[in-house]
Amino acid sequence: MREELLNHICCPICKKMAFEVETAVTNTREIREGQLTCAACGSKFPVAKGIVDLMPNPDQTIQNEQQGWSELLGETSEELVNTMLQLPHYGEDNLWVSVARSFDDIMEKVNFQGKKVLDIGAGRCWSTRHMVLAGASYAIGLDILTERFIGLETADIFLEHDAIYFERMIGDMNNLPVRPETFDIAFMTATLHHTSDPKRAVKEMADALKPGGLVILINEPVRGIRQKNALDGCVEIEHGINENIYSLREYLQAAREAGLTPQIFLSPVVKDELNTNPHQIVHRFGRLGQYILLPLWRYSLGQKLIAGPMLPFLHLVANMPLTMLARKPE
Ligand SMILES: C[S@@+](CC[C@H](N)C(=O)[O-])C[C@H]1O[C@@H](n2cnc3c(N)ncnc32)[C@H](O)[C@@H]1O
Ligand SMILES: [Zn+2]
Repeated sequence: MREELLNHICCPICKKMAFEVETAVTNTREIREGQLTCAACGSKFPVAKGIVDLMPNPDQTIQNEQQGWSELLGETSEELVNTMLQLPHYGEDNLWVSVARSFDDIMEKVNFQGKKVLDIGAGRCWSTRHMVLAGASYAIGLDILTERFIGLETADIFLEHDAIYFERMIGDMNNLPVRPETFDIAFMTATLHHTSDPKRAVKEMADALKPGGLVILINEPVRGIRQKNALDGCVEIEHGINENIYSLREYLQAAREAGLTPQIFLSPVVKDELNTNPHQIVHRFGRLGQYILLPLWRYSLGQKLIAGPMLPFLHLVANMPLTMLARKPE
């Protein structure tokens, strides 16, 4: 961490915003080892490997999630460094192809130049990295995991490779240890569905934003009736990870109740399928895909219908990832 972080955080316990810093080890980049003390309540927050821990006493759900991810990670080796540098582009693996497609799409839709970004559930921080490379002026990757190759410590690879800087901190999306009205963008990819209380997490994001700021949610699964049992046999759940699939209504409600104005977009993954992979559309939507969506897609008006008024209905029918932008009023 760098001292500038103190202008962006609050104490997760008393919510006050003044800290004392003790520095034990620094390098040319940042404070690597040390401690923050809340000037109001006296709580202490260690800094280890440059990462400040603003999540004292994680609850059982978070502890289970931490253990589950660590189990799934298994053995690692430094050969993974190259893979990390390629993320989110990672071979032919379907999940990553979809994640990368939606991420690239959002990087085109949103201008990150000069923006202060909070990347929640950043995990390895590949997304934080790319937002900084796209011109974000200040960025924090926040997660509950630290382990290299799955959690925040992975960020060191990017900071060294690109000679860039962003902060990493341990924190809970349901109790964000950040100053209100501080960020231009609060971002999540594939993370909101890891809480049992998405309304609270979206409210936390909204509070962190300046007026006019933007919540970005991508790659969240949306429950469609055709794939009701999508979580059956989910390996993450077997490892104690908190996986949920919310409906579009629940995502929209969470945004509206947080005072945001949400806008949803046709998943670029589904758009690609409509353009080049009709079999996948039929697999996803059944007859609706075969007899309505594919024929409609041939016409520009049909494309507008599918990406506009029909979209909430399509989310109701079939699973497809969420792409949502939700604006805080000026
Ligand atoms: C599916 S992973 C996505 C990680 C990363 N965004 C990516 O796309 O590679 C979900 C992430 O949510 C994080 N997470 C789970 N519960 C959390 C919580 N309460 N607060 C913050 N992050 C959490 C997990 O540690 C994990 O890194
Ligand atoms: Zn405090």
